[in-house]
Amino acid sequence: MKTYIINGGNKLEGIVEISGSKNSALPILASTILCGRDYIIKNVPDIDDVKMMLEILILLGCSAYYEDGSCYINTKNLNTYDISDKLSKKLRSSIIFLGPMLARSKKAKITFPGGCDIGSRPIDLHLNGLKELGVDIIEDGDFILCSSINTNSCDINLRYPSVGATENLMLFALSVEGKTRILNAAKEPEIVDLQNFLVKCGYSIEGAGTDTITVFGLKNTNKNIQCDESVEYNIISDRIEASTFIALAASTNSRICIKNADKRNLTGIIKLYREAGCLIDDLENYIYIVKKDRIKSIGRISSSPYPGFPTDMQAQLMSSLCCSDGVSYIEENVFENRFKHVNELNKMGANIVTLDNIAVITGVKKLHAADVNVRDLRGGAALVLAALSAEGTSVVNNVEHIHRGYENFASKLLNLGADIREI
Ligand code: UD1
Repeated sequence: MKTYIINGGNKLEGIVEISGSKNSALPILASTILCGRDYIIKNVPDIDDVKMMLEILILLGCSAYYEDGSCYINTKNLNTYDISDKLSKKLRSSIIFLGPMLARSKKAKITFPGGCDIGSRPIDLHLNGLKELGVDIIEDGDFILCSSINTNSCDINLRYPSVGATENLMLFALSVEGKTRILNAAKEPEIVDLQNFLVKCGYSIEGAGTDTITVFGLKNTNKNIQCDESVEYNIISDRIEASTFIALAASTNSRICIKNADKRNLTGIIKLYREAGCLIDDLENYIYIVKKDRIKSIGRISSSPYPGFPTDMQAQLMSSLCCSDGVSYIEENVFENRFKHVNELNKMGANIVTLDNIAVITGVKKLHAADVNVRDLRGGAALVLAALSAEGTSVVNNVEHIHRGYENFASKLLNLGADIREI
């Protein structure tokens, strides 16, 4: 078990550089199997989820390694359609291999991803969309066997704008001749990044960022485009990491300069934290955030698909509101089981009560140090923010979850003057 020991209460100051986006990098890495060629994917965060994606690529016969922020990948020797290895159980995002694997190999075998720490996370939208495109799917215990012999393009109307289902369907539809439209598609910036990558690879796809994505498919993704040329691509910066550092400044009454953030994707978060009393200067290459006094309560906010308030910031916002001057309500509408940080924040003296998917946060004067357990990635970040704002020495256990999605989290915090060490 990995643990952070945090002596909280320090005001932080300095510059933090935001890494590449986890949620862009994962689908882009998976989509490299569409066509056997060389890829250099830059600005990839050095996180455990990326390491696992590269391990899966290697198990599939591809070559893949990480060096200085870039992934060097060659997918010519893909030699299996079986992605049901134990790694796919470890990494839920491995479901994103399904679409590109089927597009390239016409077959795919994958382990049912099952539940995870933030809810049951079904994949019915992925599978139903594939079926509409003509994929045969056999569910056999833990496995899903898919084959795509007689496919047909069509309009797929998603019941819910699922990020993963949108990505999987975009990727598979590239191999379905004709025009496929994904209606009620997810509009997240990471979907736009995936489309930009695919266009750079030579595919024809448009509409990402709106609720209708149109894919102009080719029968064989591995033969019908110029696969002998290598592709270089730069991943966008991570909006959730940038937002987490905004939340950090707010939680610790600090002065932090955030470099390399893509501000177009942070408008909602910046507005929210300004309303909560943070001074945020939106400079050309930086976001400069200062928090001097107690944060203001925010009334009620609900998580929802982009451009709504991101579920991936729910825990960190809750952490910032623990010491607010009133009562705030956070409604979690995306995942059913995403309040596991609440008990841990309460151990630190917070006053949070949950009722179904609503958390009522009554601000307290200050938090105190405690021994707490991380249960999921974003909840983990929230506990670190709380520990940094609380006076005394906190012990934050199971920080492996944080390593999954934040690059060098502890050293970035150390550079800002935090007293944090990992054991
Ligand atoms: C992605 C992000 C994750 C983020 C989430 C929502 C990645 C790697 N992960 O996850 O960080 O929190 O979007 O913004 O990009 N659902 C179904 N059936 C399906 C698929 C999803 O009912 O087939 C439901 C889920 O249970 C959940 C909701 O839809 O309640 C949103 O899930 P989805 O948008 O698919 O999230 P992910 O792609 O898994």
